Amino acid sequence: MKRTCLITGGNSGIGKQAAIQLAQAGFHVIIGVRNLKRGEIALEDIKEKSEQNDIEILQVDMSSKKSIIDASLELKKRINQLDVLIHNAADFDIARKQPERSVDGIETIWATNQIGPVVLTDSVMDLIRKSEQGRIITIASKGLMMHPTLTVDLNDPEFEKRKFSVPKAYYQSKLAQVMYTYWLSEKLKGTGITVNCIRVTNVKVDISRYPNISGFMKFLYSLKSRFSISAEEMAKTYIYLATSPEINKTTGKYFNEKNKPVSSSSYSLNKENIDAVMKLTMSYIK
Ligand SMILES: NC(=O)c1ccc[n+]([C@@H]2O[C@H](COP(=O)([O-])OP(=O)(O)OC[C@H]3O[C@@H](n4cnc5c(N)ncnc54)[C@H](OP(=O)(O)O)[C@@H]3O)[C@@H](O)[C@H]2O)c1
Repeated sequence: MKRTCLITGGNSGIGKQAAIQLAQAGFHVIIGVRNLKRGEIALEDIKEKSEQNDIEILQVDMSSKKSIIDASLELKKRINQLDVLIHNAADFDIARKQPERSVDGIETIWATNQIGPVVLTDSVMDLIRKSEQGRIITIASKGLMMHPTLTVDLNDPEFEKRKFSVPKAYYQSKLAQVMYTYWLSEKLKGTGITVNCIRVTNVKVDISRYPNISGFMKFLYSLKSRFSISAEEMAKTYIYLATSPEINKTTGKYFNEKNKPVSSSSYSLNKENIDAVMKLTMSYIK
């Protein structure tokens, strides 16, 4: 039987390239997209590039709990089991100067990059449990290495009391995703379901996605792109984690773009810190 993978943010960048490679690897691929029009354009491209047809769209706004729950109910009408779940979508709107709020009233980077994946995993866990060997893959960033002492601000995760910047909010959310990976892998020990995180390196960004950024930012991004790998190249690690038989029992690990396990910060590995971050996260969900 074909394995099924749901990948969020599958209409752009690494997610789209991963969708192409997953389809080529024989998966039934479901791309989670917040915007149906963008999703449909991407879907046609994914079908054409992969030369596969077993790809479909699921509408989901990862910053909205209701949208995620509605999407999971829709998913259950379409499939009986989910083999791979990739939490690829992320909010990193570099043009944003002020925090924005999701429909749930939560700062959108925190809502999309940390709360959303936890709600989605919970909502589709019954489908993953039906897989012979379910795999959950979270996405973090190599940029975290530039912030080795970064912590999740338990008192102010939404930047209500401190100065907001997109990079600060983004790296906090990605650090929380690493910690969520460790926490969930512990919770799922003995079930056969694995949970691993990818440390995405510098990947070429499609700058046309950010029409409102300044000329200086465009210049910085063009410089950055000289030291970046392609989305297609990075997607190979997604495929490795989704398919490789040699890691079918490997869980709670953090992988780099060369498919090698790497370490995260000592803060993120500390059990008390992990529990505190997940207690905070769960306070948004209940
Ligand atoms: N590029 C890098 O250098 C880099 C470095 C480190 C980590 N990463 C991580 O790698 C992953 C993929 O990044 P990328 O470079 O491929 O980025 P990208 O091209 O900007 O793709 C991000 C995707 O997330 C989707 N998304 C954003 N907010 C969403 C929401 N509320 N609900 C549903 N989908 C939403 C976007 O949809 P729309 O098209 O609708 O906006 C888009 O499909 C992300 O987790 C990112 O944090 C990237």
